[in-house]
Amino acid sequence: MTAPKKLFIKTYGCQMNVYDSERMAEALGPSGYTEVSSPEEADMILLNTCHIREKAAEKVYSELGRLKGLKAAKPDLKIGVAGCVAQAEGEEIMTRQPLVDLVVGPQSYHRLPAMEARARSGEKVLDTDFPEEDKFEALKSRPKARRGPTAFLTVQEGCDKFCAFCVVPYTRGAEVSRPVDRIRAEARDLVERGVREITLLGQNVNAYHGEGPDGRDWTLARLIRELAEIDGLARLRFTTSHPNDMDDDLIAAHGDCAKLMPYLHLPVQSGSDRILKRMNRSHDRDSYLRLIDRIRTARPDILMSGDFIVGFPEETDQDFRDTMRLIEEVQYGQAFSFKYSTRPGTPAAERPQVAEDVKTARLAELQGLITTQQRALQDAMVGQTVGVLFEKPGRQPGQMVGKSDHLHAVHVEATDIAPGDLRQVRIIASGSNSLSGTLI
Ligand code: 5AD
Ligand code: SF4
Repeated sequence: MTAPKKLFIKTYGCQMNVYDSERMAEALGPSGYTEVSSPEEADMILLNTCHIREKAAEKVYSELGRLKGLKAAKPDLKIGVAGCVAQAEGEEIMTRQPLVDLVVGPQSYHRLPAMEARARSGEKVLDTDFPEEDKFEALKSRPKARRGPTAFLTVQEGCDKFCAFCVVPYTRGAEVSRPVDRIRAEARDLVERGVREITLLGQNVNAYHGEGPDGRDWTLARLIRELAEIDGLARLRFTTSHPNDMDDDLIAAHGDCAKLMPYLHLPVQSGSDRILKRMNRSHDRDSYLRLIDRIRTARPDILMSGDFIVGFPEETDQDFRDTMRLIEEVQYGQAFSFKYSTRPGTPAAERPQVAEDVKTARLAELQGLITTQQRALQDAMVGQTVGVLFEKPGRQPGQMVGKSDHLHAVHVEATDIAPGDLRQVRIIASGSNSLSGTLI
């Protein structure tokens, strides 16, 4: 019997890291670990890191610096770095921050228990391989703990697109899709444990091409239609998609698959053809806009979400205006926008850079426009009736909060709702970050 120990995981970055952190906690269960919510209590601290932009990696180093005191007070404390910074920096992390005991890349999480044991015996351990074995199979969750109403499920990992700004193809490696029956088994297991909404995850999720039970490669649309058959599963979502991989069936599924929610995150990055070319995006402004038209024809009320980068190398004012015009045309319900951040080893890192103050000004202007659109689309929900999946009590007594079909936060005054209930709600008001409504 292994001695009970406490694990604290801090997660940075995307939803895939959230999913990975859950798997890491489960993998370390048999080594005696239970998760705790503060680093002070922990016998092991794992930072699950993100490398997508500069500041993210810097944050990790400063967080590690802050852990010095804890480690000095508790010499048995083990500190590990996981995620994409671990993959990208490897041994460098231990050189730069000697208090780190363990460095593990995203493809090696199933090896964590063995790594932890070696770290316990005083070794410094590093694993950033891209091993051949199926890490998901090895990470299969053992404990049948009850879950909340929503969950992530990774179906695809890695990316072969090589956008000129992006580190993902280097940190997460080549595109790999999990087989359909494994995903179906995991989805059924989640539903048995109380999950009603599953978000399928992948860096390039709509490029999914996992092996189906018939031995052929299945598309994401086919996978979604299959998962929609699971009784008790009420909602499906997927993220993140690339415009070039939105095939006809996936577009059609938004119109005819009732469990697929009317929300789509479809990053475009820029509205300028010149910049899109330099970004190696392999789609242009017009093809993106036509694609959105087709999606909206299939599902008129779909809420669009996007990612934007401002200040990509050589971006002129005119290029930026083109992006602003594209945003005006699309009308986003949600968007994530970033200043271009130089990632060593990516093609764009070598090119002439845009001045920092120009990036700052463009970002502020773009975010202003997005906020206005977001708010307008949220306000337009007032008077409508939407499905809401309730997740937890709200801040006020007697209040429950959940997410609408369109992923808006909604709160309702009601005493007879439990987490996991899916109810029809009439929206009566729109606040700064959420909607409020009454049960039908
Ligand atoms: N600089 C700024 N933003 C980036 N993204 C990816 N790489 C960079 C970078 N080097 C953004 C893209 C992507 C999102 C996840 O992060 O918009 O869609
Ligand atoms: Fe990065 Fe997405 Fe481009 Fe892949 S498609 S390189 S993950 S931005």
